[in-house]
Amino acid sequence: MNILVVGSGGREHALAWKLKQSPRVEKVFIAPGNAGTEQEGENVPIDALDFPRLIEFAKSNKVGLTVVGPEAPLSAGIVDAFKAAGLKVFGPSKKAAQLEASKVFCKEILVAASVPTALYRAFNNERDAVTYLRTLQGMPVVIKADGLAAGKGVIVCDGYEDAVDAVHRLAADREFGDAGNRFIIEERLSGQEASVLAITDGKTIMTLQPAQDHKAAHDGDTGPNTGGMGAYCPAALVDDAMLHWIEENVLVPTVHTLNRAGTPFTGILYAGLMLTPQGPRVLEYNVRFGDPECQPLLFRLKTDLVDVLEAAADGRLDQCEPLEWDDRGAVCVVMASEGYPGSYRKGYPISGLEEADALPNVKVFHAGTNRVKGNICNNGGRVLDVTALGATIAEAKKNAYEAVSKISWHGSWCRSDISDKNKEK
Ligand code: AMP
Ligand code: GLY
Repeated sequence: MNILVVGSGGREHALAWKLKQSPRVEKVFIAPGNAGTEQEGENVPIDALDFPRLIEFAKSNKVGLTVVGPEAPLSAGIVDAFKAAGLKVFGPSKKAAQLEASKVFCKEILVAASVPTALYRAFNNERDAVTYLRTLQGMPVVIKADGLAAGKGVIVCDGYEDAVDAVHRLAADREFGDAGNRFIIEERLSGQEASVLAITDGKTIMTLQPAQDHKAAHDGDTGPNTGGMGAYCPAALVDDAMLHWIEENVLVPTVHTLNRAGTPFTGILYAGLMLTPQGPRVLEYNVRFGDPECQPLLFRLKTDLVDVLEAAADGRLDQCEPLEWDDRGAVCVVMASEGYPGSYRKGYPISGLEEADALPNVKVFHAGTNRVKGNICNNGGRVLDVTALGATIAEAKKNAYEAVSKISWHGSWCRSDISDKNKEK
């Protein structure tokens, strides 16, 4: 069968790479893809939000399954549109994708499902929010724009002044545009963060191995927030007992509650968790694979991903065998452009890609690259996701950084401590 992957980042490169390995797959198309996804199949120059053209392409190229990477097309209703056209697609409906697209909806589901999460209140104006902040007497809070804000709509505050300022940025300065028309104020939690993802058809849940992202730009989790500077899997801080607890107390009740709310969920349910001294708390849900968590996750997954995603799209996940994993660890280091997550320049040729890719147990997934006159150049903030396997996470880290050392372009940089928070067991 032919597969269409929608998106253009490192997650989509990893998806295309993994899906292509299925003996059932003839051809993988990636829309629009990047300079790396060309290695796995054919790039199709159609924007991820241009549903009519994507549907026409899928029909005329006998696409048997479409897999959607990013949240934007999901929350704009790509799954509803493909289904209405009679096409098989993996991902949540527009209504169910609100779990990520609306922080208020997400909180309402969490509370209805009795899933542990930070206490919160929702607001739609500055005055009420500030009145509420006064009652908190300086308690540390986090302020979140309700809508999608490209991962930037969350402001972690240190005290009252800071929180008032954050509310002003959202409500008066409209820093996140319409995404900030509503916002929530929630209690600020502390602890390590972990990503637990599951594949679900709305009835059966297949939990993936735990991973950990590194959201801050610089070593030691300092500097501004980014889309994620690296990830590894498995994350030992979520042991088997905790993973089981999360499945029972977080994922299962969420899927049931979404069913009861009339928004059955098919796709990737990604719980962003904080492991507090009181136990795991859900910070947010995403409705798609994490980027970069997807890269080390799929690097370790042995099961044929086409079989599982197709079964989920068909609503027969209960018939699948349990997932099989490589026992080794995987580490993914993100290489970024100078200036990211602020402004950066594009178009610098990248050297060393082939040398890095030739190393054993290494794959360089492309995130923001394109081809300019035969050269592969940086074309985004996060540019490459250098991923490696190793007998332990420490060994995988060593292998990943060895590959990183082969690659460079003007101003390229990365964190040097990806996976250091792992507690080797
Ligand atoms: P989110 O987009 O909701 O995952 O938030 C982005 C980042 O903000 C998270 O990865 C956390 O580091 C931080 N964050 C979100 N909610 C909280 C919270 N309630 N307490 C502390 N940090 C938080
Ligand atoms: N790795 C964080 C995200 O995909 O949202």
